[in-house]
Parts: sequence; structure tokens; C-alpha cells
Amino acid sequence: MKGLILSGGKGTRLRPLTYTGAKQLVPIANKPVLFYVIEDLVDAGITDLGVVVGDTAPQVQEAIGDGSRFGARVTYIHQPAPLGIAHAVKVAQPFLGDEPFVLFLGDNLVRDGIAPLVDYFRTGEMNSLIVLKEVPNPQDFGVAEIEDGRVVRLVEKPLHPKSNLAVIGIYLFDHHVFEAVERIRPSRRGELEITDTIQYLIDRGLLVNACHLEGYWTDTGKMDDMLEANRWILEQIEPRCDGTVDSASTLYGKVVLEPGAEVVNSVIRGPAIIGERTRIMNSYVGPFTSIYYDCLVVDSEIEHSIVLERSRIEAAGRIEDSLIGRNVEIGRSPAKPRAYKLVLGDHSKVGIL
Ligand code: TTP
Repeated sequence: MKGLILSGGKGTRLRPLTYTGAKQLVPIANKPVLFYVIEDLVDAGITDLGVVVGDTAPQVQEAIGDGSRFGARVTYIHQPAPLGIAHAVKVAQPFLGDEPFVLFLGDNLVRDGIAPLVDYFRTGEMNSLIVLKEVPNPQDFGVAEIEDGRVVRLVEKPLHPKSNLAVIGIYLFDHHVFEAVERIRPSRRGELEITDTIQYLIDRGLLVNACHLEGYWTDTGKMDDMLEANRWILEQIEPRCDGTVDSASTLYGKVVLEPGAEVVNSVIRGPAIIGERTRIMNSYVGPFTSIYYDCLVVDSEIEHSIVLERSRIEAAGRIEDSLIGRNVEIGRSPAKPRAYKLVLGDHSKVGIL
């Protein structure tokens, strides 16, 4: 069995971060989302992985390499344009051949892995297995209608959902899926949709089963979901100190200091993680905060936030509920006139007091 991870796409909902970076590489608790996906596949015994890439291919390739550090073998598959999830399956056909495979969207995060799903698919007679999760807002998802464990209909973002079972970003298929992705037509938004693909299989009389995911799942495609995923992963971290803490500093609760991290005259209240070579000085880092590598936080307070690599936060007052990109600088502007002085990329969001 093979794995197909989608790491292309447009990432419009996560702008401006996705202007310069792959959303699948945004770190959750200082580890890119994509790494959790690869680990889940490898843990389920699937090590022959295809990774679909688009414009951000060089970054993804640099981060994952040949996959050997995960115990996997990775083949990169270039999708010329983000024309839909089913389109990505189509371009991956030469890699997948006739083997059954797991399709895993590279921005989806699950808690308990996927091994039971893979085992269930392997033992069954089914042509496809989709994974469902109860959600409070099914009208925002693809929703499945089930009879005797069998999926009879999928409806994309229904106005009047018949169930609260959303289709999440993990699917298992046999080779019949290739006939489906050839036959379906682009949707109104111009994409080859995975829901249409599965509906095609159902209409052809093939067996599409569903299973419920009990544990945590999130799609990290939006900022709120990123922060939520970060909060949830940090809740489970084991405290570790591979950095240094001076005697004027205090760490409370579950705190991870990665190698070379330095805490000076500061308070860190976990769960929180401070990345490699990051310095925290005269500051407070509050719960559910992940600060990635080579950052600097001075004379500031930050809580419930994610900070990406090489950013500097100096005398910034208090920051909460924020997602701060790479190489960002936040500081005082002493020069007159006394005013906010901003250099913000397109689609940036700033909340001022
Ligand atoms: P989506 O989040 O559905 O789409 P998107 O990445 O274009 O983002 P947005 O809606 O914010 O514009 O994609 C789910 C996953 O599949 C994500 O990891 C990107 C990947 N993907 C591809 O690799 N190729 C594609 O053509 C599409 C649509 C998505």
C-alpha cells in the first residue's frame, strides 16, 4: 500500500503566510504539520510515499528530503496547477500504479494515528474508505449519508445537512479511483473535487465504506485552527530543558526548551515551547505559545500564539492569539510623530488597541 500526501494547493485562507511559505510547513508545537502526517503514515506501516507539490515545491523538498529520516521513501509529484484534490490524484497515477493507497491532505492533523483505518481497509472488500468526524457545523463540510455502514451519498456544504458527519482529509482507495478522476468534470470553482470522485464510485455501484474518527482532528488551513491545533498538541508535550535558564527566570508547568534556547529574567508558563537558539529576555511567555527557532523576545508578553522562525519581538507590550510569520520584526517606533508604523504584506491582519 502506498501513501499520497497533498502538499500543494493555494492556501488562500492562510494568507499572508502562504505568499511566501507552504502552509503544510507551518509548525505546530515547533514541528511542521506535514511531519505529523508522514509519521502517521509510517506508523501505519506505509513507507512508500508520494508527495504532491506545487509552487512551494523547493521548500517542501528541503524539509522532507528523501524521507529517510522518517523511515520512508518519498517521491515528489509535481502538480502543474492546484486544480483540485482529485486532480492531484490524477497526476499521481504513474506513481500509484494499481496499488491501493491512503490519500492524506498535508494540512490535516489527527491525534490517534491512522493504523486502525488502514488495517480495516486492508481486511475489507471495499473499494474506498472515507473517514468521518462529527462536527458542530456540517454545513461547512462535505457531509456523508450512511446506510448500514455504507456511504450512499456525499453532499458538499449542504444547506440542510442530513447528518453531522463531515468527511475529513484522509481517504483510502483502490485503483477504481482513477476511472472516477478521469470521468468527473470540474466543479463551479473550477476544481476536480474529491467528493465528486467518491460519488462517482458510489454511483458505479462500488463499495465505499465509512468509519468514524473518535480522536482529535483538525484541518490547519485557517489561522484559528492553527492556534487550536497548537494548543492541543502543546497540552500533550513532555517537559524538557535542552536550553539554559538563568536564576532570575521561572518556568511553570510543561515547558520545552530546545537546544540553545535561552531564558533570561523571564517567566514562562507552559504548556509552551521555545525553539532552538531562541532568546527570551525580560519577558513573559504564556500558555499555548510556540516560538520557533532563532527568534528573539525582549521586554514583551506573548500568550496563545505561534511565532515562526527568525522573528524579533521587542518592547511590544502584550501579544495574544497571534500567528506571526518568518523574519517579522515588531518593536517600538521612537521616532516622531508618535504613531504605529507598519509594513504589512497583502492580507495581513493587525488588531490595535
Ligand atoms: P485545501 O485546503 O482544500 O485547498 P487550498 O490549499 O487551495 O487552500 P485554500 O482553500 O485556503 O485556498 O487543500 C487541502 C490540501 O490539499 C492542502 O494540503 C493543499 C492540498 N492541495 C493540493 O495539493 N492540490 C490541490 O489542487 C488542492 C486544491 C489542494
